[in-house]
Amino acid sequence: MSDHDTSLRTPIVAVLGHVDHGKTSLLDKIRGSAVSEGEAGAITQHIGATAVPLETIADMAGDLVTVEDFDLPGLLFIDTPGHHSFSTLRSRGGALADLAILVVDVNDGFQPQTEEALDILQRTGTPFVVAANKADTTPGWNPNENAPIKPSYDAQSDTARQRLDENLYEIIGQLSDDGFSADLYWRVQNFQKNIGVVPCSALTGEGVPDILAVLMGLSQRFMKAEMEIDVAGPGEGTVLEVKDQQGFGATLDVVVYDGTINEGDQIVVGGVNDPIVTEIRALLQPQPNAEIRVENRFERVDAVAAAAGVKIAAPDLDEAMAGAPVRVVRDRDVDDVIAEVEAELAEIEVDTEEEGVVVKADTLGSLEAMANALQEAEVPILRAEVGDVAPRDIAVAGTAREPEHTVILGFNVEVLPDAERELEQSEVTLFADDVIYQLVEDYEEHVAEMQR
Ligand code: GTP
Ligand code: MG
Repeated sequence: MSDHDTSLRTPIVAVLGHVDHGKTSLLDKIRGSAVSEGEAGAITQHIGATAVPLETIADMAGDLVTVEDFDLPGLLFIDTPGHHSFSTLRSRGGALADLAILVVDVNDGFQPQTEEALDILQRTGTPFVVAANKADTTPGWNPNENAPIKPSYDAQSDTARQRLDENLYEIIGQLSDDGFSADLYWRVQNFQKNIGVVPCSALTGEGVPDILAVLMGLSQRFMKAEMEIDVAGPGEGTVLEVKDQQGFGATLDVVVYDGTINEGDQIVVGGVNDPIVTEIRALLQPQPNAEIRVENRFERVDAVAAAAGVKIAAPDLDEAMAGAPVRVVRDRDVDDVIAEVEAELAEIEVDTEEEGVVVKADTLGSLEAMANALQEAEVPILRAEVGDVAPRDIAVAGTAREPEHTVILGFNVEVLPDAERELEQSEVTLFADDVIYQLVEDYEEHVAEMQR
């Protein structure tokens, strides 16, 4: 344990970027793990959280970060899947992510989800650093394990450096096209005005010290005031996932971004139908530097203060909804807290119309992202819900007046067995995919085909 002022909460850092550009690998390098290797096809399917203490950051960053220079306790990293819109995690509870790393494969450059991530960062005004990853794949690159990037970059052959430069300037140009003034990070004077681009490798660790130094600098210099919270206040958080945990039944993986949560606290959680009111039976904390998404060893703790990832065990959590808010009641009237949770859910609720398509998604985050994508494509929505495709959805989709609207768009959901049978007998077409853009594209193609 450190003796740092505990009323400063840990900044939350979201790691964003296109699929396979190296987000999980970069976190693996920072926390000394191999989560990416354990993933099916090295694809991240869920959102995760890892608390990295200041001591680990200082170790990793070498001379670039000294424990004594900082009074923030560390960083809480949120790993996101490349194909998953992050907008909800961010909007939930005001601001879940305080800072971000935008990971871009130097060879691949800007891709659809890079743009999507950048849109979110722009909309929310989140300060970020660009990790120009996989620099080690530059032909002729001479690796320097875990070294700061500038000396390593300077020590490369002219041809290797020029090849990397070409890719880096491509990225800087694309950032500029999107309205961000960016430069190689060692040339940036004011990180509030200009975006720093750090060439790096999640494989060799080069440039990782620099990324950590920029993040720590940003949080210490520009965000410290926002990190001062009432740690004694009632905890507020967001559900990342609802998971069965042996011996506990349905549990919640939660990111707590404000206040404190104690064992025994009464909480209100957004549910598939109504808000759930329950009492915390156990708080299970992953080890420092462990990813809550894959960790199976948890320490039972009495209390957790923001910001942290924690598993909550309590009765009646089966119907809790990923992406929904969690609130500790503490000294308040439980009805007020229920109203608060309902109001927050209503804010996320998707605007629906009298006529349109049916949308199903696995989390509130993906539902919102789907709704945004459909709105952009000018596709009206009749109903939008979290959950698997059920017979009821087919009935609803069947009521659409326009033939082009008798469809269900399902993101990352299953089709329940009863629904499968009904689907075969109905006029309703199901589009199912785990890539939002693909779903919208498939649907648009379907409509174009109908008009032919
Ligand atoms: P999603 O979570 O699915 O969006 O992907 P991701 O961004 O987390 O990518 P991940 O870390 O899983 O890496 C994808 C692949 O790229 C893996 O095979 C990694 O080993 C490889 N990779 C990641 N970073 C680097 C790097 O810096 N250099 C090299 N050579 N390979 C890398
Ligand atoms: Mg990943």
